[in-house]
Amino acid sequence: MSSTASVAKNLISKVKLNDGVEMPLFGLGVYLIKDNCEHLIHAALDKGYRLLDTAELYHNEAGVGDGLKKSGLAREDVFIVSKWFPSNEGAEGAKKALSTCLKNLKSDYVDLYLLHAPQGGKCAEAYRALLDCKKNKQIRSLGVSNFGVHHLEAMEKLGLEAPSVNQIELHPWQQKTDIVDYCRKKGIAVMGYSPLAKGNKVKDETVRKIAQKLNKTPGQVLIRWSVQHGFITIPKTSNESRLEENADVFNWTIPDEDMNILVMNT
Ligand SMILES: NC(=O)c1ccc[n+]([C@@H]2O[C@H](COP(=O)([O-])OP(=O)(O)OC[C@H]3O[C@@H](n4cnc5c(N)ncnc54)[C@H](OP(=O)(O)O)[C@@H]3O)[C@@H](O)[C@H]2O)c1
Repeated sequence: MSSTASVAKNLISKVKLNDGVEMPLFGLGVYLIKDNCEHLIHAALDKGYRLLDTAELYHNEAGVGDGLKKSGLAREDVFIVSKWFPSNEGAEGAKKALSTCLKNLKSDYVDLYLLHAPQGGKCAEAYRALLDCKKNKQIRSLGVSNFGVHHLEAMEKLGLEAPSVNQIELHPWQQKTDIVDYCRKKGIAVMGYSPLAKGNKVKDETVRKIAQKLNKTPGQVLIRWSVQHGFITIPKTSNESRLEENADVFNWTIPDEDMNILVMNT
C-alpha cells in the first residue's frame, strides 16, 4: 500500500495528505441530515468522531457548525469537509460558495474543500480561484470529487496543482480500481463515499453470511471493507443509535478469503 493508503486503527487515525495536512481516516457523512443535524453532530463528536463530511448541496453546513459549537470541542480538533458543484460562474461562483460555507460553519477556514463533480464547464478556473483561497488560509486542503482518471489527467495537463483528495463512490459493487490505482500512484488520497451502498445492500445475502460468520452486522462488514482498503470512510446515519455500531470497525478484520468474495458485479 502506498503512503496515501493507511488503514485506520481507531477514530483518530490520520493520513498525511500530499500538502502535509493530516486528515482523519474515518468520519460521519451528513447527506440528508436536516432537522436533527446539530444534535447528531454533537452526539457523533461525543462518541469520538472527528471528521464530518458536508456540502453546499446538503443544506446543513450551518447544522455542522452549530453541532461543533455545542460539543465544546476546539475548532482545530475537528476536520470538516465541504463541497461545491462548479457552476458556469467559475471563479466568482467558487469564492461565493466558499464564503457562504465559512459563514455557515462559523469558522475562518474549512479543512478540506472539494469540487463536488467535474461539471459546469469552468472547473479549472474555479480550482485556480480555490487555490488562491488556500493560500489565504480559508481552505487547508483542496480536493475533488467524482473525478475519473481522464479528469485528473486533464488537470495535470493544465499544470494545476494535484488535488489532495478525490472523493468517489466505493463499496463492493463500485470498486473503481482504475481511479483508486491512479490516485495512489499520484499521491492523491482516496476518500470513499456511500460505504453502505446508500443502505441498499445491507440485506445482500453474501454480506449477510460474512457478517454472521464474523459475528458483526452487515453494515459493519460494508464499512470495514472500505476501512480495510485504506479508503477515508464516511458512513452516513441519521440514527444516533447507529453511530457506535458504525464506528466499531477497527479491532477486527475481514479475512482475505471474504474480501475476495466481496468483489461484486454492479
Ligand atoms: N461526493 C459525492 O458526490 C457524494 C455522494 C454521496 C454521498 N457522499 C457522502 O458520503 C456519505 C455517505 O454516503 P451515503 O449517505 O450516500 O450512504 P451510505 O453511508 O452508504 O448509507 C447511508 C444509508 O445507510 C443506512 N445505514 C447507516 N448505518 C447503517 C447500519 N449500520 N445498518 C443498516 N443501515 C445503515 C442509513 O440509514 P439511517 O440514516 O436511517 O441510519 C442510510 O439510509 C454522505 O452522507 C455524504 O457525506 C458524497
